[in-house]
Amino acid sequence: MKILVTGGAGYIGSVTVKSLQKAGHEVTVFDNLVYGHKEAVSANLIVGDLTDKKFLNESLENIQFDGVIHFAAYALAGESMKDPNKYFYNNLIGGLNLLEFMKDRKINTIIFSSTCAIYGTPDTLPVNELESKKPDSVYGDSKLMFENILKWYDAIYQIKHINLRYFNAAGATIDGSLGEEHDPETHIIPIAIKTALGNFPSFELYGNDYETKDGSCIRDYIHVEDLAQAHILALEYAIKTKKSDSFNLGSGIGYSNLEVLDEVKKVSNVNFKIEIKDRRAGDPPKIFADNKKAIDVLGFSPKFSDLETIVKTAWNWHSSKK
Ligand SMILES: NC(=O)c1ccc[n+]([C@@H]2O[C@H](COP(=O)([O-])OP(=O)(O)OC[C@H]3O[C@@H](n4cnc5c(N)ncnc54)[C@H](O)[C@@H]3O)[C@@H](O)[C@H]2O)c1
Repeated sequence: MKILVTGGAGYIGSVTVKSLQKAGHEVTVFDNLVYGHKEAVSANLIVGDLTDKKFLNESLENIQFDGVIHFAAYALAGESMKDPNKYFYNNLIGGLNLLEFMKDRKINTIIFSSTCAIYGTPDTLPVNELESKKPDSVYGDSKLMFENILKWYDAIYQIKHINLRYFNAAGATIDGSLGEEHDPETHIIPIAIKTALGNFPSFELYGNDYETKDGSCIRDYIHVEDLAQAHILALEYAIKTKKSDSFNLGSGIGYSNLEVLDEVKKVSNVNFKIEIKDRRAGDPPKIFADNKKAIDVLGFSPKFSDLETIVKTAWNWHSSKK
C-alpha cells in the first residue's frame, strides 16, 4: 500500500516508517523537522508544515495514498501548560488540514497517535478504553479533541480512524539504527541514560512520597518496535473491517520510576546520583494500561516491552552515539 506518514521524522514515526517498508509498503513522510531528524527518515521525505494547507495539498498532489498514519504533533505536556496556543493550533489546525486533504483525495483510513494523557489521573487501574477522559494538560486535551473531530469525520464523511492511545514509548530499535532523541528531552529513560553517560551531574526525580510501593510514580513503557508493529496491525484492521475504534497500547505492566532508574544503573554499570525534587503538578501517581482489547482485536503481541530489553536497546543506541 501507499502510506502517508505525518511526523515520520520523529522518534516513533521513523521507527514505524522502517517497519512499514519492511512489510512491503511504500511510504511518504511529511514532517516540518521542528522536532524530527532528517537522517532518521528512510523514505521519501517532504519537508512541510501541516498548518500550511496550500503546501500540504500541492506537495502531495501527485501521489494517491491508501492510508495515513498521523504522528505529527507537539507533545510536551509541561510546555502545553505555558503555551496552550502552540498546542491547540498545531495539533488541531494541522490535523484538520490533514482531514480535509484526506476528504478531498478520498483517502478513507487514518491511524492517529493518541495518548494515555487523555485519561488524566485514572479512577480505575489498569486503564481500559472505557475509562473516563479527563486530561490534566492542554496537550492531552488537544489529543482528546482530535479524537472527537475524527468521530465526526467518520460520521459525516466515512473516514475511518483508529485511535492508538500510547502509554510511554521507550527503547531503541533492536538493530541499533534508530532511537529516542528529543530536544528538549523530558522522558525518564533517555535522561537517566544521559546522566549515566555524564551529560548531567544527577538525575532529578519529581517526588518520592506518592502512595506507591516505593514512593515514586508508576508508569507503563512500551518498546518502540512493538508500537511500530501495532500501527501496521491497526492499519490492516481498519482497511479490512472499515471500522473506527480506539486501543490502548502499553505493556500492561507498571514500573516505578525508581525501578526504571535501578535498571539504567544496572545496564550502564554507573551508580549516578538521584536528587529528589518536589512533585510536579498533573503527574498521576500510577497509570498503566489494560492492553487486552489490542491483543484480542488487533492481534497485538508485545515482544520487546520488558524493562530490561527497553533499557538495554536504549543504552546501546545512546552510548554508541557518544
Ligand atoms: N513518545 C511518547 O511516549 C508518546 C506517548 C503518547 C503519544 N505520543 C504521540 O506520538 C506522536 C509521536 O511522538 P514522538 O515521541 O515520536 O514525537 P516526536 O516529536 O519525535 O515526533 C513528532 C514529529 O512531528 C513533527 N511535527 C510536529 N508538528 C508538525 C506539523 N505541524 N507539520 C509537520 N510535522 C510536524 C515533528 O517535527 C516531529 O518529527 C505524537 O503525536 C505524540 O503526541 C507519544
